[in-house]
Amino acid sequence: MKIAHSINELTTIISKENEKGKRVGFVPTMGNLHAGHISLIEKVKSFSDFSVASVFVNPMQFGENEDLDNYPRTLKEDSEKLSHAGCDLLFAPTPSEIYPNGMDKHLKMNMPHMSGVLCGNSRPTHFEGVCTVVTKLFNIVRPDVAVFGKKDLQQLLIIKQMVKDLCLSIEVVGSDTARESNGLAMSSRNGFLSPDEKEAASIIYKTLQQLRDEIVADNLKYKELMGKARLAVENKGFKVDYLEIRTIEALNLAKDGEQYDNLAIFAAAYAEKTRLIDNITLNPLD
Ligand code: PAF
Repeated sequence: MKIAHSINELTTIISKENEKGKRVGFVPTMGNLHAGHISLIEKVKSFSDFSVASVFVNPMQFGENEDLDNYPRTLKEDSEKLSHAGCDLLFAPTPSEIYPNGMDKHLKMNMPHMSGVLCGNSRPTHFEGVCTVVTKLFNIVRPDVAVFGKKDLQQLLIIKQMVKDLCLSIEVVGSDTARESNGLAMSSRNGFLSPDEKEAASIIYKTLQQLRDEIVADNLKYKELMGKARLAVENKGFKVDYLEIRTIEALNLAKDGEQYDNLAIFAAAYAEKTRLIDNITLNPLD
């Protein structure tokens, strides 16, 4: 696997692959890779002939009181894992390579109607940072296809919409959430959980599954269902940030009594300071 730290090095390598007519696949990450990320690499490889992963802890998507400095940086282990997974090229830039004039002077991308709810409610500038860096990475790598995890469903939906709005000819593919044996969605943050918290956190996915089953069985009292589900998670000692049933396209809250064919249930909860997110869709999402 080749490693590029600068945009110049990266574009030189990718241009050669483009000349050979290779289809370029891309997986952007913030590193600290686990089995979930590796499944994204496997997926992108099945859609492309040259796979690129980036490891960049994007400062722009962290809020002021979020712990950018303590975000785990494990580039050596990450590059070993990527190489082992058969990734062809790793892009690992420094913040000054991506934001040479600092972040304040950098153009910002935004998708206000989808970014203010769910995670965006408690992290108001988060998706602006995500959209900006993903657009920039897309312009640097110029992939034909990019794979994102469905665990961050709001992010995936925003990026799909952004690609449509900007007429980018990139296929954005969602990859199923990798889970621990107890159902807990894999995340770099799971490393902060104690064994007991990890076990208890299985309640999040279990509750989402029960909620989905209720809706599938035609219980359309969404408000009541969301309240009950919230309590089930809180009773296991988690502080729920949100547990909401929303439409997939515009992320609107489901209205009681209305039947939808595009719903997802989104949850975020804290175990002490560790924020866990998960979701379930009622219909398959590609
Ligand atoms: O999902 C992530 O790890 C990040 O939000 C992403 C897409 C790599 C952008 O920094």
